[in-house]
Amino acid sequence: MDRKYDLCIIGGAGHVGLPVGVAFANGGVKTALFDINKISLQQIQGGKFPFKEIGGDEALQSALKSGNLSTVDSPEVIAQSKFVLVVLGTPIDENLSPQFDGILRAIDRYINYFQDDHIIILRSTVYPGTTEKIQNYFREKGKNVQVTFCPERITQGHAIEEIKVLPQIVSAFDEDALKKVSDLFRKITKANIISVKPIEAELAKLFTNAWRYIKFSVANQFFMIAQEHDLDYESIERAMKEDYKRNQDLPSPGLTAGPCLLKDTMQLAAFTNNSFMLGHAAMLVNQGFVNDMIRLLKREYAKELKEKTLGILGMAFKADSDDHRDSLSYKIQKIAHVECKKVLCSDPYIKDPDFVSKDHVLENSDIVILAAPHEEYSHINPKDHPRIKFVDVWNFWKKPRENAQSS
Ligand SMILES: NC(=O)c1ccc[n+]([C@@H]2O[C@H](COP(=O)([O-])OP(=O)(O)OC[C@H]3O[C@@H](n4cnc5c(N)ncnc54)[C@H](O)[C@@H]3O)[C@@H](O)[C@H]2O)c1
Repeated sequence: MDRKYDLCIIGGAGHVGLPVGVAFANGGVKTALFDINKISLQQIQGGKFPFKEIGGDEALQSALKSGNLSTVDSPEVIAQSKFVLVVLGTPIDENLSPQFDGILRAIDRYINYFQDDHIIILRSTVYPGTTEKIQNYFREKGKNVQVTFCPERITQGHAIEEIKVLPQIVSAFDEDALKKVSDLFRKITKANIISVKPIEAELAKLFTNAWRYIKFSVANQFFMIAQEHDLDYESIERAMKEDYKRNQDLPSPGLTAGPCLLKDTMQLAAFTNNSFMLGHAAMLVNQGFVNDMIRLLKREYAKELKEKTLGILGMAFKADSDDHRDSLSYKIQKIAHVECKKVLCSDPYIKDPDFVSKDHVLENSDIVILAAPHEEYSHINPKDHPRIKFVDVWNFWKKPRENAQSS
């Protein structure tokens, strides 16, 4: 098969599609980023990542300069490529159930561009069995393509540095397709290529995210127990961890949010007929962490809370990110709207006409919750603002930020 591109990425301007596309292009693979978001494509063509990504712009500019990276807004590019990598969003709905139809709808929309000799790589995180379902779907449509599943495991914002060193999980229904995707991924990593069956790869990805979500919930639950008893969790955590190897993997407490961890834990819950007890418990703890913050403020201020202005620093779902998807800062905002006189929100990386500056928050709030511990806030010294009650569940202003939560 002689085609213009080696690889086309459907969803190529997204948080996963763009870094992996840049990595492939820099690895010598002729790559086309196909996306319906024309504004993002234009920015990418100009050498700028449309979102925060460490080392992103430099890697993107070198990929563009190599001539191996193109941006495309027309689906014809699918027919012009040997491999088609699909990395569209896979959200859960308002009942916490996985939505299956996003990828299928995109396939339907572009069906005429798929060719019999195509190798399709699903990179989105999917409900178990989806790869087989999509393989069968193509067969029903008379397309003899090979569908493979090779999940993404980067931490958002660190993809460019991580892709090079992370082992890649690959899976396919036939040996030929497995060899081809393994060879392709060898171009972006020196680490191992791990091959398993598609359903095993699907579960490996979901278990990974559920495991992280549950680990964070353990730290959060411990923190809430200490708070409830007016104890200093930092001291307890230090006592547990100092020079004691077995406890080093206990993360620090914090707001556990973002577009992946809860969603993927709930995909697993749906797969187990909603009997994934640990997953559901983790959701209650991590989502309830915010309610607990406000409950403690109510305990401290009683009726006076209604007279207070509450400021939120950081609306992104995690530190040093500009991504507000599924951020718990918005849950704080909603509850505080009911419980306080006024709420002020601020974030240096997210544009919103209703947000105010960090200084405005500090000048006008009685209570300040540090929701996303952006580096930008490290210069704030709570001691310089004795009038304000600071809520810093991250312990950000007291200790170095190692082992922080990030999804
Ligand atoms: N964000 C992460 O760090 C991360 C990590 C691992 C896995 N994942 C998984 O990767 C998948 C994608 O997540 P994301 O964060 O990159 O999402 P995203 O929203 O950032 O990217 C999706 C991209 O697809 C584009 N798109 C939507 N419909 C399209 C269509 N019909 N044709 C072409 N392009 C289309 C969007 O414009 C967007 O640029 C999800 O399944 C997610 O769970 C994400």
